[in-house]
Amino acid sequence: MRQRIDVGGSHGYPLFLGVPIEELGGYLEERYGARGHYLIITNTLVADLYADKLMNGLKQFRTELIAVPDSEEEKSLNRISKLTEQALRCRADRDTMVLALGGGVIGDLAGFFASIFMRGIRYIHIPTTLLAQIDSSIGGKVAVNHPSGKNLLGSFYPPQAVWTDFSTLDTLPWKEIQNGLAETIKHALVSDPNLFDFIESHTEEIKCADFKVMKELAMRSLAVKVKIVSEDEKEKGQRILLNLGHSFGHALETDEAYKGVTHGQGVSIGLAAASSLAHARGLMTDSQLDRIINLLTKLDLPTSIESRDPEILLNHMSADKKNKAGNKILVLPVGIGKSSVATDCEDEEIVKAWKKVIK
Ligand code: NAD
Ligand code: GLY
Repeated sequence: MRQRIDVGGSHGYPLFLGVPIEELGGYLEERYGARGHYLIITNTLVADLYADKLMNGLKQFRTELIAVPDSEEEKSLNRISKLTEQALRCRADRDTMVLALGGGVIGDLAGFFASIFMRGIRYIHIPTTLLAQIDSSIGGKVAVNHPSGKNLLGSFYPPQAVWTDFSTLDTLPWKEIQNGLAETIKHALVSDPNLFDFIESHTEEIKCADFKVMKELAMRSLAVKVKIVSEDEKEKGQRILLNLGHSFGHALETDEAYKGVTHGQGVSIGLAAASSLAHARGLMTDSQLDRIINLLTKLDLPTSIESRDPEILLNHMSADKKNKAGNKILVLPVGIGKSSVATDCEDEEIVKAWKKVIK
């Protein structure tokens, strides 16, 4: 069933859910007219799977496709520079619209490119991973990584629309579904205990990628994100809670120069570390901590990592965007379904939490 949800903020935009990729062209014609220049930015893997479908619906427009290599390492300034050259070769101008076709890497990269090319051109997200559909395509955060820190160079730059075709999940491998599940569990822990119960009671269906269950999971998870970012677009308040697990996770990603653990794996280990710190502070009971670790484990998500130096990881956390005046700001779960911001975490406490997840 198709659905439209409007995301609020300085520049609200529609999320179209359950819509076929090939029908985007019809929407563009109706919304922006019969003429237009569209620049599809995707990666080589997603291009093979979905570019024809998308382009078939765009025949009335001048359309070009740029496929970048498939890797988190491509979220870089170097790639932004190459995209600029390619876009100019395609005679892109200020009226060109970018169509970001892919997962969170492509969404963040193409969105950031759109935010700075000729001082900003319009773009639309076409998310094709669970993670992108429930999280990264919503909320207007776009960025590239820097060797010193994850997503350090970026903007708040809302899209014109998000066009979500859930059937793209049919080709998504289980390990990529898992990356999205880490963010759905984060959403549940941040503000939706019923979503946590739902995931807990449907692990078998989720592991078989039962379409009905996956769709309900996606709808409930993205609703958490829509509500929070609509109320706090620029992360002045509660949006910070959506970074639960990310201070730890980003440190792991940075440590391996974005070639090691995936974002979702980092978030999963980060959720385990943040939960352990919260437990040590008395913010959750033994059984609540067990429930979180058990759920991650049941979904084959990692809750630990081998042979890391906690001091080095602590040092990576110094470049976290949430930090203020040299203090590390951490999001901690309070039981299940509520989270809080801790501004007073001592380095020793954080190192202890790292030691709990390093085997
Ligand atoms: P990804 O974009 O690398 O996609 C994962 C893999 O799935 C890639 O190999 C991709 O080619 C492949 N793929 C994509 N769609 C497919 C499909 N339908 N079928 C088969 N394969 C497909 O990773 P991701 O997990 O989607 O996103 C992670 C990124 O998102 C990270 O860079 C993270 O920082 C970012 N992120 C951003 C936000 C935000 O608010 N902007 C939020 C969360 C995460
Ligand atoms: N992924 C965190 C946020 O969008 O705010």
